[in-house]
Amino acid sequence: MKDPLNEVGKITLIKNRNKLNYLILIFAFLIGVGSIYYTNLIVNQLKHREQMQIKLFAKTLETLAGDNSGFNDNVMLLFEEIVVANETIPVIVANRDGEPKIHKNLKIPSELNSEQADLFLKEEIENMRDQYEPIVIANMNDQGEVFNYEYIFYKNSSLLNQLQYYPYVQLSVIAIFFILSYLAFSYSRAAEQNRVWVGLAKETAHQLGTPLSSLMAWVEYLKADPEYENKDITRELDKDIKKLELITSRFSSIGSVPVLQEEHIFEVIRVSINYLQTRISTKVKINLHPGDENLKVKINKPLFDWVIENICKNAVDAMSGVGIIDINVEKSVEGNVIIDISDTGKGIPKSVIAQIFQPGFTTKKRGWGLGLTLVKRIIENYHQGKIFIKSSEAGSGTTIRILLNG
Ligand SMILES: Nc1ncnc2c1ncn2[C@@H]1O[C@H](COP(=O)(O)OP(=O)(O)O)[C@@H](O)[C@H]1O
Ligand SMILES: [Mg+2]
Repeated sequence: MKDPLNEVGKITLIKNRNKLNYLILIFAFLIGVGSIYYTNLIVNQLKHREQMQIKLFAKTLETLAGDNSGFNDNVMLLFEEIVVANETIPVIVANRDGEPKIHKNLKIPSELNSEQADLFLKEEIENMRDQYEPIVIANMNDQGEVFNYEYIFYKNSSLLNQLQYYPYVQLSVIAIFFILSYLAFSYSRAAEQNRVWVGLAKETAHQLGTPLSSLMAWVEYLKADPEYENKDITRELDKDIKKLELITSRFSSIGSVPVLQEEHIFEVIRVSINYLQTRISTKVKINLHPGDENLKVKINKPLFDWVIENICKNAVDAMSGVGIIDINVEKSVEGNVIIDISDTGKGIPKSVIAQIFQPGFTTKKRGWGLGLTLVKRIIENYHQGKIFIKSSEAGSGTTIRILLNG
């Protein structure tokens, strides 16, 4: 029978979210490229116009100089007028020895004396030369002989410079705004998820509590009856009640701030896998490799057992019920406790590694995709540890690593 929720509910949700993220990213990229491209267009037009303007000055000057058979004071005056009319483009007119004669739209620091100002202008001439070749004006006399040269140095106006950087500044401001709002959004989403987890877990523990205590009372009643005292039914009921108690304690631990206690980690894992071993396929062997038996680490036992159980169950699924699970525990150089759980299963494709801890991600027909979400939550939120896929090879297996604070 098809389970309608299982069929449509889970992966589609994640796939759609990823698609949407890509779309937003592509859209943002297009806006960025578009606005830079457009500004560049304007910048180039403006550049062209500024160059034309300067060339026009030069042309005028040249014509005037030619007509007047000499670079006399009148021409100079006229030229100054033209230069003054230019309000934006920094220009320096220099003679053939590179001595600045007129300048415009350059801020000379007021504390400089005239000698230093001269030096400042000369440096400025070098800067300008880097940007544009100076325009040379030949002054000719009546006979058409060149008797003098003038040089017009210029550079981009500050308006043009600002315009060039404007889209980058604008985009950075927008990017910062988006990053901040994304952080705020994911923070509030995480807070909401927290409330759901905690509320649901508490409620479950609470609901299980009532029938459980009633069941316990009934078993005590049976035990008191000599006819049932040593019967299988009483023992089996006792076992099931223990299991129910374990589940209740897990749910109530995850629904409250769990108490962490120093435990012998090898012993905890050994008990956990002994219990698991009896409940999984006999063709799966779980090996706990020997190590420092005295290694202690602060954990919450019911929750940590849940982690081991979930990871091992996934491993069993990945191996289709046949294979070996190896567990290695050791202390790292930094003093953390490393727990590696390896299986010989089908591995996790690279394309989904980033998703397997997300709620709802599963590749199984009857999976809910909550196991690893829970595991991650227990390790990271309740133990301040880390969990990640250390390695995974298609067809040969997966190693999951847990890091706990030693
Ligand atoms: N050891 C593993 N080997 C291969 N795939 C794994 C392993 N552990 C987890 N996965 C993948 O991660 C998915 C999510 O796991 P989980 O959160 O436990 O949900 P579920 O077990 O319900 O599918 C699984 O469906 C599986 O595709
Ligand atoms: Mg699972």
